[in-house]
Amino acid sequence: MDKLVVEGGNYLRGSLPVGGSKNTALPLMAASLLGGGSCTLTNIPNLKDVTTFAHVLRVAGAKVQFDPDTNELDVDASTVDYPEAPYDLVKKMRASFYMLGALLGRVGKARVSMPGGCSWGPRPVDLHIKGVKEFGASVELDQGYVIAEAPNGRLPGGSFKMEPSSVGATINLLLAAVRAKGGSRIENAAQEPDVVVFGEALKAMGAKIEGLGTETIEIEGVDVLDSVDFRNSADRIELGTYMILAAMAGEPGDTVRLNGAGTKFLGNAFRDVFRETGADFTSEGEGADSYVEIAVPDELKPVSITTAPYPGFPTDLQAQWTVLLSQTRGEATVKETIYKDRFRHIPELRRMGLMALQGDGQVDVYGNAELKGATVMSTDLRASVSLVMAGIVAEGRTDVLRVYHLDRGYEELEHKLSDAGIDIRREEYDPQEAEPQRAAELPT
Ligand code: EPZ
Repeated sequence: MDKLVVEGGNYLRGSLPVGGSKNTALPLMAASLLGGGSCTLTNIPNLKDVTTFAHVLRVAGAKVQFDPDTNELDVDASTVDYPEAPYDLVKKMRASFYMLGALLGRVGKARVSMPGGCSWGPRPVDLHIKGVKEFGASVELDQGYVIAEAPNGRLPGGSFKMEPSSVGATINLLLAAVRAKGGSRIENAAQEPDVVVFGEALKAMGAKIEGLGTETIEIEGVDVLDSVDFRNSADRIELGTYMILAAMAGEPGDTVRLNGAGTKFLGNAFRDVFRETGADFTSEGEGADSYVEIAVPDELKPVSITTAPYPGFPTDLQAQWTVLLSQTRGEATVKETIYKDRFRHIPELRRMGLMALQGDGQVDVYGNAELKGATVMSTDLRASVSLVMAGIVAEGRTDVLRVYHLDRGYEELEHKLSDAGIDIRREEYDPQEAEPQRAAELPT
């Protein structure tokens, strides 16, 4: 098993590249099944979630080639003939559940395993199921699988108001509705950029969609969709992670540059609170040549945040923000409104000296923390990156165990950080040796 070993105390310097968006790449890959031909997706990040989903597409019969050197993914969907997504893959990666909408949209039927839970609690898919039912599918649950069927092989279409707004359910319902016989409407739809960019790709394929990025999306079903080549957007969460890291680990007065992304998809809430800390940024463009420059402040001011659906503060950046708050001169609160229990990083950060008081769906973070290196355990993707960030500003050595969580969402992280002045390396370790010692340290 791999761990990342970080020697704290070095400034983050120079520049880092931002890769393609994980959370847009996955729905784009699902959409590639709807065209029925071959397409090339570019700026696809080399992540475990991408390779897992590529295998899910192969199980359905598609031919998929991914080149990690060019970040290009080729899909030939002409041979899709097996409308299933098996448990062993769906349990690995929840977004495999997009196969429900993709297979309903492509072949009018689907047998998809229910996704498992998550380290921070249940993540239901009731809205996905209710939605496709409203669009005319018959759905039954059998031995942990969702079995859905469109009457006479094609959904009639319908209308569904979701509560709460769900990124995944919006994506799944778009996949199901774009080739329906009639029209469909999604109310209280997710407005995240991941959904908008994915929806633009469907429109490029010939789908008729109005209202992307608003709370009501109208779809007029079409008979045929064309396979088109499409460039994935930059990863806004990777960008936000590095902006936060630059503000807290850059040298005061220095500038750190992040290449390949602009701040448009981060939303006003993040941009505003980021500047309230005293850090500043300039952003140029949104395409392959875009960049963001961070001006590192002399002192970081504590700024409280509350997560919310886009354009609110992204829940995927709240763990990272917590580490920044530990380096400010005061106290602030992180409120989580989307996943109440998304605080598995707090006990691990406490082992490094984080001073924080957890409440119901929130944590009060006290600044001026002199973090000390420790052996800590990753529990999920964004928690694991917060542990690396803490190790960068901590005194001494930090071993971040179980980085398979991190590898799901951050491409080549240790190489990108090493090239920007950080002392970090990947090492193998034997969980039998390293982790029981952890158990001995945990409170009885
Ligand atoms: C997507 O997950 C992202 N994953 C998550 O990023 C992100 O945290 C989340 O959106 C919120 O922004 C991908 O895009 C692959 P939701 P998703 O459905 O679609 C409730 C990361 O770190 N809900 O928008 O699963 C749910 O419990 C990952 O990259 C239902 O009640 O999130 C939550 O409270 C982690 N019923 C809220 O909606 C449902 O059927 C938002 O969840 C579906 C969701």
